[in-house]
Amino acid sequence: MPTKILFVDDEESFPSLIRRHFRKQIRAGEMDCVFAANGLDALQTIQSNPDVDIVFTDINMPQMDGLTLLEKVHAFKPQMKMVVVSAYNDMKNIRTAMNRGAFDFLTKPIDFQDLEITIQRAIKEVAELKESENRFQAAQTQMIQSEKMSALGELIAGVAHEINNPVGFITANLETTEEYLTGLAEVVQLYQQHFPDVDGKIADKIKEVDVDYIIDDIPELVSSMKEGTQRIVNLSTSLRTFSRSDVSHKVEFNIHDGIDSTVTILKHRLKANLQRPEIKIVKQYGELPPVVCFPGQLNQVFMNLIANSIDALDEYNEGLDFEAAEAHPNIIAIATEVNGDGETVSIKIKDTGKGIPQEAINKIFEHLFTTKPPGKGTGLGLYISRQIVEERHGGKLSCNSTPGEGTEFIIEIPIKSPVD
Ligand SMILES: Nc1ncnc2c1ncn2[C@@H]1O[C@H](COP(=O)(O)OP(=O)(O)O)[C@@H](O)[C@H]1O
Ligand SMILES: [Mg+2]
Repeated sequence: MPTKILFVDDEESFPSLIRRHFRKQIRAGEMDCVFAANGLDALQTIQSNPDVDIVFTDINMPQMDGLTLLEKVHAFKPQMKMVVVSAYNDMKNIRTAMNRGAFDFLTKPIDFQDLEITIQRAIKEVAELKESENRFQAAQTQMIQSEKMSALGELIAGVAHEINNPVGFITANLETTEEYLTGLAEVVQLYQQHFPDVDGKIADKIKEVDVDYIIDDIPELVSSMKEGTQRIVNLSTSLRTFSRSDVSHKVEFNIHDGIDSTVTILKHRLKANLQRPEIKIVKQYGELPPVVCFPGQLNQVFMNLIANSIDALDEYNEGLDFEAAEAHPNIIAIATEVNGDGETVSIKIKDTGKGIPQEAINKIFEHLFTTKPPGKGTGLGLYISRQIVEERHGGKLSCNSTPGEGTEFIIEIPIKSPVD
């Protein structure tokens, strides 16, 4: 982006003088010049060119003088770098200008070397300002994101808790229902044995409702209901494990529970779809001691990494026909172990997705770096994950990838994380 400079001067030959002098910079796309003949004109120019970074203005001009312009611009765009150009010796106006927030002053006739130095200085300040603005914006986006995450975490934990009660009485009543139904079935069977030759209404009813079939089917019916409720219980446990937000201090945590609950929550994304078969999760869990950590945060890391792997597998399969997608192994392998030092554990998450191109590998942990379309990617996942692993837990998050073959992320964290 060229630096856009507005020159305000009522001297007719001024624009061509500037253009001639800066023609190299203008042609190289480093500098872009716009001109105005007086203060009023300049205000309009700034309005229609909101990307102007620096203004050089003469003081004595018709319609609106440079000092008034300075004051007006300063009021609605305080970050604009304004330089006044005045006659040599005009100390009074120069003082007024500086008091009104001018960035610098130059004297007439213009010394081009002086002008260039001033421009360079202003460019540098503008760049610094933009940089700090960007950083501020980034910090803000991230704050909003983590706010959202913690609000979501609370919501999930609350809902999971609320589900437990109704599921609890369904489970309990199911036991009793099974008992009652079995009892009734036994009575009916006894009746059938003792009075085999029923006719009329009873015989019709037995036929109509298919009593033998019902009696056979009851155990299966009940066991499938039990399985259903058990699944709800598992899911709610997973949700609660996942959204544990022990924000105030670190606690001992079973890493495998964290990974398992994350996988359960992502289950719907692993299922087969029109593009590809089901994604297989292959777990190779070592013997891990409890790890002292912020469980909710580590789970967020697992979630980010596994979700990225699913995205990478989806992207690999995009455009392949189903047979080709089926021929390709769609696997996410998750391995854990205590490292050789006995003091750290490693969690490796490896996928057979599309991999990361060489030119992107150094950027993936950067704030807001994403290769995904808006609405899908935020570019925050890896940035936040690295912060959680390295800054909050004193660990290390690294990545190996072969484009076209797959990617592996390695989390290493101390078993007894440093206290903070
Ligand atoms: N397992 C992976 N396989 C391939 N590319 C990945 C993988 N994980 C991350 N990436 C790349 O790193 C980028 C940044 O990831 P991330 O910070 O999670 O942001 P997002 O997922 O929102 O794009 C992704 O857009 C993607 O290009
Ligand atoms: Mg991501």
